[in-house]
Amino acid sequence: NTDPVLARAEALITTVPDFPAPGVEFRDISPLLADGPALAAVTEALVAPFAGTFDVVAGLEARGFLLAGYVAARTGVGMLPIRKAGKLPRPAASVSYDLEYGSATIEAPDVLRPGDRVLVLDDVLATGGTLAATRTLLGHLGAEVVGAAVVLELEALGGRDVCGDVHSVFRG
Ligand code: PRP
Repeated sequence: NTDPVLARAEALITTVPDFPAPGVEFRDISPLLADGPALAAVTEALVAPFAGTFDVVAGLEARGFLLAGYVAARTGVGMLPIRKAGKLPRPAASVSYDLEYGSATIEAPDVLRPGDRVLVLDDVLATGGTLAATRTLLGHLGAEVVGAAVVLELEALGGRDVCGDVHSVFRG
């Protein structure tokens, strides 16, 4: 990466072998989140291609929440938390999907206003199942999805073939 702050941010992402299951290489963005300048540069690069095109950021539980919260606070847009099953009192939509390790269900509340334009944010794109399910979920809500952005795309897993177009700050 040519930007020195972004290059440092990328180097802060740590690979943890065999988590949460044997054979899975977990990408831990915690050191990046803990570094203020790195976090500012990454979140700016995350949403830069979408400036002015969205009213709400949807964050995927759990680390997508942190990115969406940061972007919402910085840009003044709203935030839609997409939750794992069983956490919302009144889920308006629910989608189940396969993960690299196991399966999951995500849910969303019915809180968007007509015409809201939604940008989806998450930390890592792996198999693409989570992002594809999120697009389906937001479709059930009748939301207009303007795009999706992740900090790190694991290109070898071919996620974008599953979830469609996505902007990634880093690729590995
Ligand atoms: C990770 C990551 C993405 C998803 C990507 O979440 O934060 O949301 O997996 O994988 P995929 O592209 O193969 O669907 P995780 O399942 O670890 O949940 P967590 O954030 O609640 O720990």
